[in-house]
Amino acid sequence: MAASISLLVVLAALALSSASSFAFPHGHGGGPPAFLFPQFYDHSCPKAQQIVKSIVAKAVAKEARMAASLVRLHFHDCFVKGCDASVLLDSSGTIVSEKNSLPNRNSLRGFEVIDEIKAALEKECPHTVSCADIVTLAARDSTSLVGGPYWEVPLGRRDSLGASIQGSNNNIPAPNNTFQTILTKFKLKGLNIVDLVALSGSHTIGLSRCTSFRQRLYNQTGNGLPDFTLDAGYAAALRTRCPRSGGDQNLFPLDFVSPTKFDNFYFKNLIAKKGLLSSDEILFTSNPVTEKLVELYAANNELFFEHFAQSMVKMGNITPLTGNHGEIRTNCRKVNHP
Ligand code: HEM
Ligand SMILES: *[C@@H]1O[C@H](CO)[C@@H](O)[C@H](O)[C@H]1NC(C)=O
Ligand SMILES: *[C@@H]1O[C@H](CO)[C@@H](O)[C@H](O)[C@H]1NC(C)=O
Repeated sequence: MAASISLLVVLAALALSSASSFAFPHGHGGGPPAFLFPQFYDHSCPKAQQIVKSIVAKAVAKEARMAASLVRLHFHDCFVKGCDASVLLDSSGTIVSEKNSLPNRNSLRGFEVIDEIKAALEKECPHTVSCADIVTLAARDSTSLVGGPYWEVPLGRRDSLGASIQGSNNNIPAPNNTFQTILTKFKLKGLNIVDLVALSGSHTIGLSRCTSFRQRLYNQTGNGLPDFTLDAGYAAALRTRCPRSGGDQNLFPLDFVSPTKFDNFYFKNLIAKKGLLSSDEILFTSNPVTEKLVELYAANNELFFEHFAQSMVKMGNITPLTGNHGEIRTNCRKVNHP
């Protein structure tokens, strides 16, 4: 009992330590400010947030999964060179697109929605709103549109002049990475164990391909047996559409209970051993701190929402380009002067 109380105290401290705060903006020497703040476009493009939201809402109304895809796009942007829209660049000249990396190829989506938002914003206020901020706002709007929390987004990111396919291959966790490897990849980005569990909660929406979890169904540890932390009945159902070979691209909900609603069923599923990815289930089975967090979020949706919003702001603040660094791209797929 005493141990579990002190664990809760540690968790509360970790969660609080991630609360961000910032002073009121004033750029030194007249240059653009070197930090992010929510009012960044209030004068230069007052309708920016409204335009992003309306186009995201239209896209999600057309296809519910798009909310999930846009949240993931932000994650895969921020974990590679920071939240700088590097993930949006197509290959050309010296640029090798991150779109072809192992985690992204045949998997990452939402690029056309970002293009549509960018085109609308270039019309409304040319050369003003960065692609990196568009992706960040789209992730927030997507979350709240499908039932998740809403939060204020610090703004003022600028766009990268390059991409890193190596960074994309190495920094983004794989679904069969060990718990330690995943936690290390988060810590390298300044995110802690609470951020890891809260942000993994975005797997309450969206889909995964068979190829991302097949190993669990047949030969998890090389002994020819399925993952013993996966419910046997659930595994049998998954095997019907995810065979030993073939069907790589077949799609499955990450949260089979409420796949298009942002809620805490993801965590309840983990407790029932019905997490889809190995990286999901290990949060409940591999570490006492993450196990406790899974239980807390499964029991308290409000706490999950609060931590999720806080951790999304923290992830969105990973090494942004500000001031005179980078540029404001005209087309999110290309640098302005290749
Ligand atoms: C903790 C480590 C993580 C791992 C190993 C991981 C892995 C994956 C994998 C393998 C998929 C399915 C991809 C496919 O098969 O096409 C997926 C989907 C998804 N991931 Fe993660 N993920 C992680 C963390 C995150 C985080 C931090 C976020 C956002 C905050 C996120 C958001 C999503 C969403 C929303 C989807 C569904 C996308 C869609 O339906 O288009 N994931 N993830
Ligand atoms: C993880 O999955 C990749 C891609 O399917 C595979 O090449 C690798 O061997 C797997 N790693 C482990 C430790 O099982
Ligand atoms: C399981 O994987 C191991 C190591 O990768 C391999 O040697 C073995 O043949 C596999 N077993 C089955 C039944 O696929």
